[in-house]
Amino acid sequence: MPGISVKKQARASILIPDQKKKEKTMNFNLTEDQIMIRDTARQFAEEELLPGVIDRDEQEKFPREQIRKMGELGFMGMMVPEEWGGAGLDAVSYVLAMTEISKVDASAAVVMSVNNSLVCWGLNEFGTPEQKEKYLKPLASGKKLGAFALSEPNAGSDASNQATTAVRDGDFWVINGAKNWITNGENADLYLVFASTDKVNKSHGISCFIVDRSTPGFAVLKKEKKLGIRGSDTCSLGFTDMRVSHSDMLGNEGDGFRVAMQSLDGGRIGIASQALGIAKGALERALNYSKERKQFGQEISNFQAIQWKLAEMAMETDAAELLIMKAASMKDEHRKYSRESAMCKLFASKTAVKVALEAIQVHGGYGYVKEYHVERMLRDAKITEIYEGTSEVQHIVIARDLIKNGY
Ligand code: CAA
Repeated sequence: MPGISVKKQARASILIPDQKKKEKTMNFNLTEDQIMIRDTARQFAEEELLPGVIDRDEQEKFPREQIRKMGELGFMGMMVPEEWGGAGLDAVSYVLAMTEISKVDASAAVVMSVNNSLVCWGLNEFGTPEQKEKYLKPLASGKKLGAFALSEPNAGSDASNQATTAVRDGDFWVINGAKNWITNGENADLYLVFASTDKVNKSHGISCFIVDRSTPGFAVLKKEKKLGIRGSDTCSLGFTDMRVSHSDMLGNEGDGFRVAMQSLDGGRIGIASQALGIAKGALERALNYSKERKQFGQEISNFQAIQWKLAEMAMETDAAELLIMKAASMKDEHRKYSRESAMCKLFASKTAVKVALEAIQVHGGYGYVKEYHVERMLRDAKITEIYEGTSEVQHIVIARDLIKNGY
């Protein structure tokens, strides 16, 4: 299978009118490179992820070997420049790959999404050359895995309410506190840990630290038992007098909340793509099944009741894709895209739940059992309405931006 670590000029060619007036046409075509990346991801998902996906879900088994291979293909640091170990691709390519992986295995997809958008992106954007050499290179090339430790028992949607503290002690910071809902918590090597360095300044008093799991005082605590994405791990973490060098602070003191919010802007495109993949996977399965399954002497796809469902599922899936590609294209053009990323996540996650539910209905009783995959897709879809900002938080982000900047 070909790798994807080739230099890309792959500018987003979807949906965004070109900046230059004379070329101002809306182009829905993918570039050759983008098609190649999508097809590579599709082939990988079908050959390497599909065979064990039901078993990993049942056994809550992390796809370690598959993630290693995804690293070799360049999927773990897709938007990181090649000089720092990444594939040097655009956000549109990332969406395409995330969607294909998610069509088959949403658990592997969230591992990929967190490493790409929440860990590698921030390190590339805010890291010093020394931090990039030491931490970004192994993460972007898939040799190491990252996690993003922002959420706490009392700081979920209210992310700036950090109880974890970091107190300066010479060249070190001493970190105490607890995190929860940390994707890759058990399996990661490196963590971006957010902590309050100045309680008075709330969101402006938060800093971000790069933490190696071997640091004394670092502990992986409870692993959650989940409804879906059971092939990925979600853990609590504890920090007890954990000493982290000042040189491992990402960004400046007090920049942490901005690092988190900007990373989440991109992360939400990743989760929206995960939701899109689930919707596409469920739709394809429902469509295929409806053309095979016979009742009353004919394929059930002949019945309007089924046709209407399929039509609605396809329309909403396409609408989700358009919103996602718009946000990704804006990211590639270095425009502000917080509103668009919130919109695409809000819509795509709702669509994933709805389409997966309808896919079960099209399958009838078979949809309710594991071997037809769609029951897992529904369980996996639900989390996309919750993590990286609940649907309620996405409404806040969209509304605040509308009120501040207009439509
Ligand atoms: N980019 C840059 N700066 C931003 C920003 C953005 N997208 N969003 C906010 N900021 C800045 C604001 O401009 C503001 O700065 P000033 O004070 O200088 O104006 C500062 O940050 C504080 O912003 P708000 O006043 O808007 O902050 P808030 O406390 O009201 O919170 C919120 C806003 C949108 C609710 C935010 O807390 C939020 O997004 N919450 C959800 C958190 C979340 O998504 N958690 C997911 C955890 S990670 C996860 O799930 C990963 C996983 O493992 C899968």
